[in-house]
Amino acid sequence: MKVIKTVAEMQQYANEARLAGKKIGLVPTMGYLHEGHMSLVDKARFENSVVVVSIFVNPTQFAPNEDLAAYPKDFEADRKKCQEASVDVIFYPDEKEMYPNIHLTWVDVDVITKKLCGKTRPTHFRGVATVVAKLFNIIKPNKAYFGQKDYQQSLVIIKMVKDLNFDVKIVTCPIVREKDGLAMSSRNKYLSSDERKEAVVLYQSLERAKWIITEGEKRAATIKFEMKQMIQKTSGEIEYIEVLNAKNLDNLDIIKGKVLVALAVKFGKARLIDNIVIDTDMSETQSVSEYVKKHRGIFNEL
Ligand code: PAJ
Repeated sequence: MKVIKTVAEMQQYANEARLAGKKIGLVPTMGYLHEGHMSLVDKARFENSVVVVSIFVNPTQFAPNEDLAAYPKDFEADRKKCQEASVDVIFYPDEKEMYPNIHLTWVDVDVITKKLCGKTRPTHFRGVATVVAKLFNIIKPNKAYFGQKDYQQSLVIIKMVKDLNFDVKIVTCPIVREKDGLAMSSRNKYLSSDERKEAVVLYQSLERAKWIITEGEKRAATIKFEMKQMIQKTSGEIEYIEVLNAKNLDNLDIIKGKVLVALAVKFGKARLIDNIVIDTDMSETQSVSEYVKKHRGIFNEL
């Protein structure tokens, strides 16, 4: 496995790989890798001849009051994990290499970046889209892998790729969770042991939303209210709970089609996000099948 630290060397490696007919799969990360990241790496390994993991804590996606300086790092552990997962290259540039001069060019995806996390982090997605565009130009991937954990980020990258004609396929992978349901995140490290125990309520509230939708609830406000009541029993400070159209993040009063239930909640220093996508057409079918299961006896007698 190679560790490449410069843009020039990475571009040369990518050009040579492409010329040799290799397919490059890219997993962009900010490091402190966990099983969530590694699920993207495994998928990339399965689908490509060359796998590149980028590790770069991108300063332009953090606001001045956010956790850039505290963001956890452990390059040696990351290197080991990548080696074990048969990664070909870690692209590991420093800040000077990625932003050598005053940076004047930004990729700004409109509308969908104003929702959810964009409300409290107004410059965040501009930083994400810009660094991912740079990574695409440096690593020249055929496919790039993102997690549904950051649902809005995935949507922003998909829109950027479409609008700017990047020649790369975006693959979105499911959320990997701890045994109790908490979504894996590098930021879980900030949780005290009491907060860690409480934080499972995020997953439980999403499961509750799924359940009441399956049972036939259609009012977004009712779904949000039930979730809020659960989370308010803990020390978690709710930033948002939203029920939106999963395709375009439009607001919904009455849910239909593919629905995104998403939340951001602060436990102490840790701002955690999580979500679930529910196909309400499917859940109607599921509730019929649940009904059939419950009443199998009756159906068998008919
Ligand atoms: P980072 O938070 O390190 O996440 C890197 C990728 O791993 C993202 O696509 C994220 O959605 C995915 N991921 C994180 N936790 C996951 C989990 N529990 N299950 C599945 N996937 C998970 O997201 C970023 O870095 C940055 O914004 C980046 C895209 C690298 C740009 O700087």
